[in-house]
Amino acid sequence: MTQAHICGWGKAAPEQVLTNDNLTQMVDTSDEWIRTRTGIAERHIASDEETTFTLSLQAARQALEVAGLNPVQLNLIIVATVTPDHAFPATACLLQDTLGATHAAAFDLSAGCTGFVYGLSVAADLISTGAYKNALVVGAETLSRITNWDDRETCVLFGDGAGAVILQASEADGGVLSSVLGSDGSGGDLLKLPAGGSREPSSHRTVSEGMHYLTMKGREVYRFAVRTMPAATRQVLEQAGLDLSDLSLIIPHQANQRIIDASTRSLGLSPEVTFSNLEWYGNTSSASIPIALCDAAEQGRIQQDDLVVCVGFGAGLTWGAVAVRWSETLPAEPLSRWQKIRHVLRYRYAALRSLVRRFLRWLFALGIKE
Ligand code: ACO
Repeated sequence: MTQAHICGWGKAAPEQVLTNDNLTQMVDTSDEWIRTRTGIAERHIASDEETTFTLSLQAARQALEVAGLNPVQLNLIIVATVTPDHAFPATACLLQDTLGATHAAAFDLSAGCTGFVYGLSVAADLISTGAYKNALVVGAETLSRITNWDDRETCVLFGDGAGAVILQASEADGGVLSSVLGSDGSGGDLLKLPAGGSREPSSHRTVSEGMHYLTMKGREVYRFAVRTMPAATRQVLEQAGLDLSDLSLIIPHQANQRIIDASTRSLGLSPEVTFSNLEWYGNTSSASIPIALCDAAEQGRIQQDDLVVCVGFGAGLTWGAVAVRWSETLPAEPLSRWQKIRHVLRYRYAALRSLVRRFLRWLFALGIKE
């Protein structure tokens, strides 16, 4: 049976770091409140030059390097995000062009913080049908662009970043074993970006009323999270014919350490079974699970044949979990000089190709006018 295996991973976080102490200069809060209520110490914030696309690109290039894959071998690119560079074109298409992934279908996916889990599940299912062989799944956000920096109830929570994995078809056992996805749109108001869509197009009024910033009813989201994360974890294991005792590591959405701890307790597991890096990134929405997956792999917390469950919740409301039998170890050798040169040349060629296509399109349009 064809299974989707994770064979590459990468992450990106902006250089600029915003600490809790920095935030105390901006709003009425304290390091102590943020740490005890959320577990967050600092978060990364995109510079003016950085966007969801540039962060996605960094993470995707790393994942391709780990997988030893040429971008032309990709058949599918999914970018999970609620902060795309534009409503359209899709950030996934910007990525396709810059990577030179000339044989890939590309689309963005919006499922709040559960976006990456949704993307992983969709890509794995498409691979298992035989329709695609190599897929790039990215979770990327620049939440700082839709955060109200005067609202202490939300601005202390979020950060920017991107994470990516390569999924590859294989007949070997393991890889993505099962997935569970869910939604409850009746909770859509709990977490939303009020303006900028067809219901409230951006206008002077929406901006002056601050409707271009995300809003959240924190306590209700909290209750939803601690209910759905353990349930989705149990369900996804059951679907794979496994149980909690088989688990090696849970990679939960990194929203709040209290949510992670409460979910782990409710499953009757010890805290070591759950990976957390929230302290250093804050909540990066769709990017949080792939960044955590990448950190866990790099820190040796995931070994070959380990059973890993990625589980998330988010705006929508949505939730989801994916169970993966880890089938790869870290590459033993760093890239050789020649391999690095080859990568650089490949991306230069992709840039040139894109430029030529734009030029030809311009030339063609000129011809039509005349
Ligand atoms: N600093 C100091 N005090 C604060 C701050 C702050 N940054 N923020 C709120 N407070 C105050 C409140 O005003 C309130 O004061 P009051 O008692 O005088 O009214 C008090 O702290 C307690 O507020 P609560 O909202 O009850 O705090 P709580 O313990 O619930 O923690 C939090 C708030 C951290 C937001 C929590 O509810 C939470 O994590 N919720 C889930 C959020 C989440 O996971 N979001 C996911 C987003 S997913 C996506 O799709 C983007």
